[in-house]
Amino acid sequence: MQKVLITGASGFVGSRFVRRWDNDYILLTPSHSELDITDARSVDEFFLQNTPQVVIHLAAISNTGLCEQNPELSHRVNVEGAVNVASAAARYGAKMIFFSSDQVYNGNRESGPLDEDVALSPVNVYGKDKLEAEERVLAVSPTAVVLRATWMYDREREGMLTHANFVVNIVKATKERSQLVFPVREYRGITWVRDVVEYLPLTFSLPGGVYNYGAGAAMNTYEVACCYCEMLVGLHAGPVIVPDYERYPEHERNLSMNIDKIFRSSGGTIYFGSTMDGLRIFTEMEECLR
Ligand SMILES: NC(=O)c1ccc[n+]([C@@H]2O[C@H](COP(=O)([O-])OP(=O)(O)OC[C@H]3O[C@@H](n4cnc5c(N)ncnc54)[C@H](OP(=O)(O)O)[C@@H]3O)[C@@H](O)[C@H]2O)c1
Repeated sequence: MQKVLITGASGFVGSRFVRRWDNDYILLTPSHSELDITDARSVDEFFLQNTPQVVIHLAAISNTGLCEQNPELSHRVNVEGAVNVASAAARYGAKMIFFSSDQVYNGNRESGPLDEDVALSPVNVYGKDKLEAEERVLAVSPTAVVLRATWMYDREREGMLTHANFVVNIVKATKERSQLVFPVREYRGITWVRDVVEYLPLTFSLPGGVYNYGAGAAMNTYEVACCYCEMLVGLHAGPVIVPDYERYPEHERNLSMNIDKIFRSSGGTIYFGSTMDGLRIFTEMEECLR
C-alpha cells in the first residue's frame, strides 16, 4: 500500500479523506502539535523518518477573514509552511498534492469560466498568499499537483470537523426561519466535499501543474441559494434567501472555473458537474440515508 502523509488531517477535508481512504493507504496523520509545518527542520525530519510517497498538503489558515486580520500568520502558514512541505517532498521524492483556492481568481474582471493560465491579481490576503504558495511550491517541486478548490460543503458528521458552509447555513436558516443574504453579482462554484475527497487519489498520477478542481458555476450565488432552498423545503425561497444587488458594484465577482483541464488530464475520470448537479445529488443521497 502507498504511504500517504496528510497535513491538516483534523480539518474539514482531511478528516473526511481519512474516513474514506483509511483502508486503502497507509495514512500518516500527524496533528498540528506533532508536526508544525512552519518549522522547516521538523518537516524535513518527518519526511526522513516516515518516507511518505505522497503528501496531501491540507494544513492551512483557511479562514479568509482571519488571514485579512493576521496577514503575518497567513503568510507564515499558507506560504512558508507550504514551501517547507514542498521542499521536503522534493528532497525525499514524494509527490505533493497542494490545496490552493479559487480565491486566486478574486480580482479577475473577465466573465465566464476561467482557465488555469489566465493572468491573476487576487485582492485578498488569502488569495495572494495561495497564489504565491502555488508558484513557490511548483518552483521547488515541479511534479507537485496544485488543486484550486472551490468553497466546499457537507452536513455535520460525527468525528469530523465541519465549518459553517453553504448547506449548513441554509439548512439552519430554513429551520429557524431566519434570513440569509446572497450576492447577485457573484459567480462561484460550490462543491460537495465528498466529490473532492473521492477524486483525490486520481490526482496522484497527474503531471505537475495547476488544475481547477471543483464544481462549475452557471448561475449566480443568489440563484443557487434560492434553488437549493426550494429543493430542501419544497417552498419558495423568498422568506429565507434575500438578494444583495449592491455587493461588488465595480465588476461582478467571478471565481467560476473552467474544469476541462483536469477532466482531460485524468483521461475523463475526474469530472465535476455544475454546483446545482452536486447539490441535487447531495440532497437525494442525504434523503435516502434518513
Ligand atoms: N474549506 C473550504 O471550503 C476550502 C475552499 C477552498 C480551499 N480550501 C483549502 O483546502 C485546504 C483544506 O481546507 P480545510 O477546510 O480542510 O481546512 P481547515 O478545516 O481549516 O483545516 C486546516 C488544518 O490545518 C491545520 N493547521 C493549521 N496550521 C497548521 C500548522 N502550522 N501546522 C500544521 N497544521 C496546521 C489545522 O490544525 P489545527 O486545527 O489543530 O490548528 C487543521 O487540521 C486548505 O488549504 C484550504 O485553504 C478550503
